[in-house]
Amino acid sequence: MRYLFRPPAAEAAGLLSLPWDQPLEEWDPDLLMDVPQRGISRHVVRFTAWEGRVYALKEIAEPLARHEYALLAEFEGEGLPSVSVLGICVDRPGDQDAILVTRYLEYSMSYRYVFSGPRAADSPDRLLDTLVQLLVRLHLAGIYWGDCSLSNTLFRLDAGSYTAYLVDAETAERYPSLSAGMRAYDVELARERVGAELMDLQAGELLSPRIDPIEVADSLAGRYEALWDEVTREEVFRLDEQAYRIAERLQRINDLGFDVGEVELVTSPEGARLRVETRVAEPGQQRHELFRLTGLEVQENQARRLLNDLWSYRAYLEQRGGRPVPEEVAGRRWLTDVYQPVVNAIPVELAGRLEPAEVFHEVLEHRWFLSERAGFDVGTWAAVRSYVQHVLPHAPAVLTTPSVIVDRETAAVDASN
Ligand SMILES: Nc1ncnc2c1ncn2[C@@H]1O[C@H](COP(=O)(O)OP(=O)(O)OP(=O)(O)O)[C@@H](O)[C@H]1O
Ligand SMILES: [Mg+2]
Repeated sequence: MRYLFRPPAAEAAGLLSLPWDQPLEEWDPDLLMDVPQRGISRHVVRFTAWEGRVYALKEIAEPLARHEYALLAEFEGEGLPSVSVLGICVDRPGDQDAILVTRYLEYSMSYRYVFSGPRAADSPDRLLDTLVQLLVRLHLAGIYWGDCSLSNTLFRLDAGSYTAYLVDAETAERYPSLSAGMRAYDVELARERVGAELMDLQAGELLSPRIDPIEVADSLAGRYEALWDEVTREEVFRLDEQAYRIAERLQRINDLGFDVGEVELVTSPEGARLRVETRVAEPGQQRHELFRLTGLEVQENQARRLLNDLWSYRAYLEQRGGRPVPEEVAGRRWLTDVYQPVVNAIPVELAGRLEPAEVFHEVLEHRWFLSERAGFDVGTWAAVRSYVQHVLPHAPAVLTTPSVIVDRETAAVDASN
């Protein structure tokens, strides 16, 4: 057998004691863990935990495994939203297929969970928009997916909105750029699959009766075209309006979560023709800023939310002390005085339901909601107490809690001894 893995190698080395020579289906259940409500899959897919991390193992033919491994590694390097690949195991005895190992995307939800879990969305709009955003990102990077579906996408909460991640790159192909025909074909495949997946949920009575699978699937192409057009179209402006129109356009592209590369402006007597080269945004500025000030690693919208709270706390400190507070000092104070106490207030039995930064975001929302109702600011602590009692218990139990992961890990260690 041969293992190919990407650094850090120590992480992969820990997994070497697993029984790679045996068919995944026959692995001792003690080595595996249950992941609730996964997407539909043709291959054998199992999950295992090691040193507090969870990994997804997928048995597939070697050429596909190598292809997927190489592509996922590229995607990660470029900041495209996809699962992160650890490695592959090939040359398994008896001509068995290879195994592809990816890191479990923490706090992610499958569409089955989003539609039928405790916070089931009655309106699939936001979900479809994030799926379309993922597809546009891939297409801008010259990637044809060939299997865009809800099952092949994972959703993560990011300050109340969703972010979509690609989970299955088996059929993906990379080109210098994609023709309009290829893009349209990819969208058409997505339409068929999404329709079928929603009908499947409907047949299992897991879908709100308010949602019509066909109508939702049919809306995909329009949503895709609107976003694609918005980030790539050429525009012609009059010369006198040129400066502000360019600024407006670039801002809009940024607001949609994309970066602008080269901007080309061709002037003629009729006006200026603007062409922008839109790129997939680098992993965000807000994230870097929050990390610099607090050491917290969160997603982009969460970072924006947390930074706003940090700045308002700084303003409060300055007002109270009557002098300026440097941002680094404000960052540390906010972390210990505000953020940590909220996160620490999550009872152990509810930890692991939502990412801590998402809990913090929800507590802020809850405080706003309670204060609106009360007609005065109820304060953080009242909000935390009420949130932990009334809201968090209904949050999706996305993955079994960390304590269960540790138990599994111990079981895995025992089993390998
Ligand atoms: N790294 C991961 N993190 C979280 N969930 C994962 C991960 N890898 C796989 N999954 C879950 O397992 C399911 C199946 O994985 P995947 O789509 O790669 O398998 P597949 O058999 O190739 O699917 P298909 O039938 O589309 O070819 C996904 O829908 C997802 O819910
Ligand atoms: Mg799949």
